[in-house]
This record gives sequence, C-alpha cells and structure tokens, in this order.
Amino acid sequence: MTEIERIDQLREELHRHNYNYYVLNAPEISDQEFDFLMRELQDLEAKHPEHRDENSPTMRVGSDINKNFTQVVHKYPMLSLANTYSESEVSDFYDRVKKSLNEEFEICCEMKYDGTSISLTYENGKLSRAVTRGDGVQGDDVTDNVKTIRSIPLVLHGEGYPSEFEIRGEILMPWEVFEELNREREAREEPLFANPRNAASGTLKLQNSAIVASRKLDAYLYYLLGENLPYDGHYENLKEVEKWGFKISDVTRKCKTLEEVFEFIRYWDTERKNLPVATDGIVLKVNSLRQQRNLGYTAKSPRWAIAYKFQAERACTRLNKVTYQVGRTGAVTPVANLDPVQLAGTVVKRASLHNADIIEGLDLHIGDMVYVEKGGEIIPKIVGVDKDARIMIGDKVRFITDCPECGSKLVRYKGEAAYYCTNDTACPPQIKGKIEHFISRRAMNIEGLGPETVDQFYQEGLIHDIADLYKLKASDIINLERMGEKSAENIISGIEQSKNVPFERVLFALGIRFVGETTAKTLVKAFKSIDALIHAGLDDLIHVDEIGEKIAQSIILYFADAKNRDIVERLRVAGVTMEADEQDTADRTEKLAGKSIVISGVFTYHSRDEYKAFIEKHGGKNVGSISSKTSFILAGDNMGPSKLEKAQKLGIAMVSEEEFLEMIK
Ligand code: IVH
Repeated sequence: MTEIERIDQLREELHRHNYNYYVLNAPEISDQEFDFLMRELQDLEAKHPEHRDENSPTMRVGSDINKNFTQVVHKYPMLSLANTYSESEVSDFYDRVKKSLNEEFEICCEMKYDGTSISLTYENGKLSRAVTRGDGVQGDDVTDNVKTIRSIPLVLHGEGYPSEFEIRGEILMPWEVFEELNREREAREEPLFANPRNAASGTLKLQNSAIVASRKLDAYLYYLLGENLPYDGHYENLKEVEKWGFKISDVTRKCKTLEEVFEFIRYWDTERKNLPVATDGIVLKVNSLRQQRNLGYTAKSPRWAIAYKFQAERACTRLNKVTYQVGRTGAVTPVANLDPVQLAGTVVKRASLHNADIIEGLDLHIGDMVYVEKGGEIIPKIVGVDKDARIMIGDKVRFITDCPECGSKLVRYKGEAAYYCTNDTACPPQIKGKIEHFISRRAMNIEGLGPETVDQFYQEGLIHDIADLYKLKASDIINLERMGEKSAENIISGIEQSKNVPFERVLFALGIRFVGETTAKTLVKAFKSIDALIHAGLDDLIHVDEIGEKIAQSIILYFADAKNRDIVERLRVAGVTMEADEQDTADRTEKLAGKSIVISGVFTYHSRDEYKAFIEKHGGKNVGSISSKTSFILAGDNMGPSKLEKAQKLGIAMVSEEEFLEMIK
C-alpha cells in the first residue's frame, strides 16, 4: 500500500471510529488505539501536504490560527418559533392547523434543545460550511470551530443524500462538561458561564479552535432543508439523516392525536432532567413537508411549528439578609441569604444577586418574599419580589459603600456593573486570594500548600504577598499548629521546585486582571521576558493577536504600580522563572489536548514531575484521581491496588511509560 492509500484508509477508519464513539456511543477501539491511528495520519499528512483534505479527521484537532469570522448570508433564513406556555395554547395551535389543512396530519414532537443553533451545508457528502444563526438573515462562518465537534460528520456515510443540502441543529455543551468548565473557571476566579447555552455559544465564537476542541461540544440535528429530500415526512427524513452519520435525538416521536402530544409534553416535563444536555421545551412540527408548505410562514416564524416552553423551576422564600463576598480581584458580590427552600431537587439557602443594579431594579427589602429561579443556571437567582406578601416593609437593601473586610471605600469603574475594593495590598481576602491563586495547580502548583495553610501563614504574619513565600524557612513554620517536620519540609521543597515553573505559568500566577492561562501563553510568545512586558506600551500590546485594549490596559496598570514591580523583582531575585525557555516553547504541541491524565506508579526513564511537565507541555492535564473523565492512566510499576481496581471498573486505558513516550515523540 502506498502512503497516499494509507492516508485514505486511515481517514475512512477514523471517521468511522469517531462516529461509533460520538454518535453511537459504542467505540470499537480504545482511546489509545484511536490516538495512535490519528498520529499516524497526522504524520503522513505532514509528509504529503499535497494530499491535504479540509475534512480529514485531523482537522478536528483545531488550529491556533486566529481570525475574525466572515459573515455569510443564509440561503434560507433562520427563523424562530412562536412560543407557548400552556396546554391550551398548544391546543389552539392544533386546532388552527386542523382547520387550515382540513385533512389528516401528524405532529412530530421533539425536545427543544437549549444551546446555540447552527446551519451546516454539505456538498457532495462533505461538510462545506457551518454558520451561526446571527440575525437570522446572516450569521458567522464558524466552520473551523464546528469541525472540532466530534458528533458532526465531516464526511457523510451511506448514500442517497442530495448533492447539496443544509441541515440545522443545536450545538450544546453537556451538563457534565459545563460543570467541570465552571469549576475550573471558579478556581481561576474567571467569570462563570451562567448556563450551558452561554457556554456553548461563547465557545463557538472563540478564535482559537484548539480551545474549542478541548471544550467537548455536542450537537443534535433537527431540520433538513434542500431540494430532493428523501421523504415527505420530517420524521422520516431525520431517521434517514441518522444513516448519513448525523446525531439526532432518540426521543423524537410522531403523534397522531392531540392527546398523544400532551402525553409527550407531560412525560418530558419531568423526565428531561435526566438528559445529558439542557432543554427548555418541546417543539411540535407538522410532519408532512407538503402540509408544511401549505401552512406557510408568518413574518417571523413558521405556521407549521410551535415551541412549548417548560416553566423554569421557581420557589418563593424569605430574604433574611444580604451579605457581600470579596474576591481575589476585589470584586464585591452580593449574596441573598434565604430561608431554606426546596428547588429543583436541592435545598437553596443562598442565591446570587449579581450586582447593585439588579438589587435596585428589584426594589428589594429585608424580609421580602422573593422568587428564586433555577432555569438552566447552576447558581439560583432572585427573579422577583412578591410585593403583595409584604406585611411590614423591612429596610431597603442598599449596596454597601465600604468593603466589608477592610473598610475601604468601594469604587465602580466606568462600564462595569461590579463594585471593587481597591485596597489590594491590605484587604485580607484579596491578599489571601492572590496567594491562593499563585500556588494553585494551574499556576505555580506548589504542593503541600492550600487555602488553610495560606490563611495560617497570613494570620501568623509570615506572608503578606506572593513573594514572601520564597523567604519562608522550615524553621519559621515547623512549630505552627497542625504542622509536622515532614509537612514543613514538603512545603519548603514545593516552593523551591516552583522556581522551575515555566514563565507563562508564572505570568498567569501573578494574577493580573484578565490575564488567564491562554492570554499568559500568548503574551509569553510575543514578549519572551518579564522585562519586555514591563516596558511594553499600549500599542505594543494591542498589536498582539487576541490582546485587546481591556487586557492591555490591565497589564499596563499592573506594572505601573510600584508595589507590583517590587513583588516581581523579589520573585526574580528568589529565582522564579521570568523569561521564556526558547527551546521549551518550540517543543510544545497539542498532542494531548483535551486529555485528563492520571500518573500512577513508579517510573524508569523519568521522574513523576518530569512526566507531569511532559503532559502539560503537550497540552494535556495532569489530574490527581481517577474518574470517568480520565482519558488514560500513565501507569508505572507497582500501581496501587485501589487505583488499579477503579481504573478497571471504569474501563480506563492504561498507557505504559514506553507507550507514553512514543505518543509524545
Ligand atoms: S426547528 C423554523 N427544532 O429553537 C424553525 N428548533 O425558536 C426551525 N431549537 O432557533 C427550528 N430545539 O435554535 C427546531 N428540535 C428543535 C429545536 C429547535 C431547539 C431552537 C433553535 C431555533 C429556536 C427556535
């Protein structure tokens, strides 16, 4: 077989494995075998650039090239659906259709998936374009990002598909992925996504498709458009497109009577909570395309379909007080403290009040009966006040003017909703928060130190800022409560080791506002050293791709502060890495992008820390414990029996040292 033939063979095989895994949920090979095939294909494609194919499975990995999206006019406008909220409105819809058609008809009932809609165009069996809804007339061309979504076929299966057609559906972030993403963001004090819909649409608009690839989006398709469609029935067409490799919902039903429609609605109103993705209603569609054409459209929506929206789950309870939390950045968040109330399966005692404007808009008073809602959101929110239930009116809730922790005056920056405490050198939660961020796993990753020890060291007056960590000696901490000789030594050695952490993570660890991990990497690529960054002007900064004015201003502000320059200088003197290792940067790859890897056992060729560094260097994530989300275990000798058992139970692949080194070669 020639190398070109092998490329074709691998492409076909990998498309099939992708489909088995992401659409059918029935993989035939292990992740590891998949990765090997993928790597073989990547290598061969690199050798034969002339045989490039836009729809090769390797394109799913995403690229680092940044670009703005091009606007594309939809061939068929993307309309929305009329919403209904009650069974009687559904019944009215049914009667209207019946009267208008004056013949028998069927209704196709589907879940209304709560993500972001997408229109895919296929030409000769290949995905040629993916466009967002935009304003319904034109949207953004997000093809590169969509190609990273494994449940969307790049090349179709089977036969009988029209030479050109569009198919529309919803891009979703599964609950599990969403919750994990928010946990990570919380740890980094980045703003949380309110719900999976925002997370999915935010992800789809990212400029860097490699990050999109790591976010594990999913897609359900529900609307086929074009000429020469296989059947007159919408439901039958969906069943057909399933054979071409598309993921369609397996809960869609065709109903012959209104009563059957109601059964579907009532069943899914509660059962939807067990689905892996968010839904916010049911869509009812007249099944026959001929009948759809007869019914036609209003200016905004089809007459042949409606959406029935589920009630967001809501409870009513008393507001006892409002407290305020100060985060690492000094942002002050108001929190409503409530009488405990049962809501969507959990007891809610606290709810977010977001910001001063929201409090003002609600005209909130202490003792008010408030409505708490948990729509697609994980954090419940207050959506209203039952003013009729006020017997005696309590104190009006007014946003505080001074920091609850240190007493400084709060400020509100232009264009921002939040109030800030600017006393970042003496406000305890800010100081501790900055140190906690600095030592955290994705930043300096200092083992043995956690929020409690940071609090203890701070209370004892041993540390006041991040640079103080490097002054600590074992003798300073050995006599502290709950500290033994061993843990004291571990901490000191952890701090010592952190001096080797690469510059990009140091830069992220400094905690400059808006400089997250990705931005830190971008900055290091562009500026190479802390000195270059300190001396960079606004123009230098905004000339770097992905760095906008907001980030640039924040960097300038940070280094303009003498206290921060002093901290950086002390870190440098202590031996913390302040410039990029050119060789190291050049060696970086995305070979392990999106993989969560557990290291276990004893190794021959490299130390655990070296393996940890390898994983990170190749875009993977080293995690401490095995879960269903673990991609594989880098297994050395003498792996612990409990880990082994857990791995076997969850069917997680084991990769030996040799295999791993081969993987990242
Ligand atoms: S059909 C002409 N089916 O709801 C109507 N839409 O308000 C084409 N959606 O923009 C849409 N699940 O993003 C249809 N099963 C489903 C859906 C669905 C969710 C979304 C879609 C659309 C919006 C309509």
